[in-house]
Formats: sequence, C-alpha cells, structure tokens
Amino acid sequence: QKKYEYLLVDIKGKNSNVALVQLNRPKALNALCDGLMRELSTVLETIDKDDKIGCIVLTGSTRAFAAGADIREMQNNTLAQVVGAGFLDQWSAVAKIKKPIIAAVNGFALGGGCELSMMCDIIYAGEEAEFGQPEIILGTIPGAGGTQRLPRYVGKSKAMEMVLTGNRIKAKEAHQIGLVSAVYPANQLIDEAVKTAEKIASHSRIVVQLAKEAVNTAFETTLAEGNRFEKRIFHTTFGLADRKEGMTAFVEKRKPNFTGQ
Ligand code: CAA
Repeated sequence: QKKYEYLLVDIKGKNSNVALVQLNRPKALNALCDGLMRELSTVLETIDKDDKIGCIVLTGSTRAFAAGADIREMQNNTLAQVVGAGFLDQWSAVAKIKKPIIAAVNGFALGGGCELSMMCDIIYAGEEAEFGQPEIILGTIPGAGGTQRLPRYVGKSKAMEMVLTGNRIKAKEAHQIGLVSAVYPANQLIDEAVKTAEKIASHSRIVVQLAKEAVNTAFETTLAEGNRFEKRIFHTTFGLADRKEGMTAFVEKRKPNFTGQ
C-alpha cells in the first residue's frame, strides 16, 4: 500500500470497488494545510481514473473531520500573496471529481472542513459531529464555498446565522436542516457510508457519472436550462449498452450486468 504524508487510503466493499480516503493529520485536528490539500486532490484524481472504483468515501478521525484551513499557515499571509498565489484555488479540484464522494463526518467539520464536506455529494454525520463556519471569529469569511454552498443546502436564514455568528451546529440539527442526509452512531458511520458507496458502485459507472453531473447542474443554472440539460442527458443514456442492459434485465427478471459502456 502506498504511503502518504497526510492521508490513509484503503479499498473497501465486497467487490473491492469503494475507495476510503481518510484525512490523517491528527496533531492539528486535520487542519487542511496546503500539503494535505495537494495530496488529497492528487489522490482523488488518481482514484477518479481507476476503473475498479465506483464510489469514494472521504472521512477524518473520530475527533475531527477537519478543523478548517490551517490558521498557522495563513496567519501572516498578505493580500498580495494570497491573490498572487490564488490561495485555495486548488481546493476546487475536489468538486470536479466525477465519481460520487460520500463525506463521513465525525467530530469537527469547521470552516474549510465544513466546506470540504459540502464539496462532496452526500454527507453522513456521526452523532457527535459539529458543523460550522467560524471564519468571522478570525476576521475573515469562508473562502472555499461556505457562503455559496451552505445557503444552497440550508437556505438563507440558517446559512446567514452560521456565517455571521460563527456558531457551530450539532449533527442532529444539521440533519434537520438538510445539510446531512443521515446521522449514525460514530462507530458505525464509516460502515454505513461504505454500504451506500457499494450500492452506488453496483450501478453503471457511466450512468452514475451522468446522474451526478445532472444533479450538480441544478445548483449552477435556471430550472428551464437545468431541465433541458437533464432531458438531453436522459436521452444520452439511450446510446449506452448499460441502459439497454438495465431495462432488459428488468423485463427478464434478472440482475443487470453493467459494463460501463
Ligand atoms: N489550523 C491550524 N491548527 C489548528 C486548527 C486550524 N484550523 N484547528 C485546530 N488546530 C490545532 C490547534 O492549534 C492545536 O494545536 P497545538 O496542540 O499545537 O496547540 C490542535 O489543533 C488541537 O486544537 P485545540 O487545542 O484548539 O483543540 P480543542 O478541542 O480545544 O478545540 C476546535 C477544537 C474547537 C476545533 C479548535 O481547535 C478551533 O476552534 N479550531 C479552529 C477552527 C476554525 O476557526 N476553522 C476555520 C479556519 S479558517 C478557514 O477554514 C478558511 C476557509 O474558509 C477555507
């Protein structure tokens, strides 16, 4: 198994088709330093190209999914430096991964940690998870999608409250307001995420990719344009052997055998 500085990477699932990526910088509660985010983008991009993998689970430790961008690393940065370097630009690589990513959040998901979970496609939380955008307390604002993705998940009032107060919310509330889709006991969280990932990985790879792209389009465009795009993607599936196989298997009362073609 390959060794990484800030990550643990494992293959899971009965058919070995789920990649489990664990953030592993325990001393700093998985603060997302530049090196960690570079390693994470590279690993996710490699997994994205791996035909054997159908879904990714991204997790942290029991104590922290991630406590945000690395405050020590950016403490003395100047405006000219952050503009010049396009500070945090490379984080968006996570949102460009084509395979689905399930964030399995135990402990703190704060600032960039909350934003990283929101770049994923499904968020599951452990009972002790806490989400927040505390940047305002540091004299700055969220810089990796917090002001844009959070309102799309939870609406304006709650997003505004979280961003302007810096207050954290617990897993139960995050579930009630639609930020996370399920809450599990902390020690069952990864297994549950892997179970969902296995289910996703059992479907046609290419159709899963198209479905992810179609849902994400809902957050990028108008309803009319989104529906037009969806219809074309739906039509496009009729050019795939997997679409024929899925419907034929239903009619023949058997399990489909998808090939990703
Ligand atoms: N950056 C760097 N180091 C961090 C960190 C961060 N975001 N969060 C925690 N750490 C470090 C602490 O400095 C501490 O290190 P030392 O032991 O060397 O002092 C270690 O992790 C453990 O942290 P604490 O002792 O503070 O643990 P705690 O249990 O008392 O508190 C916490 C936990 C509430 C999460 C607290 O650490 C905290 O508030 N962290 C900062 C959260 C934050 O403000 N995140 C937003 C960052 S800005 C951002 O993310 C911008 C963006 O939009 C991308």
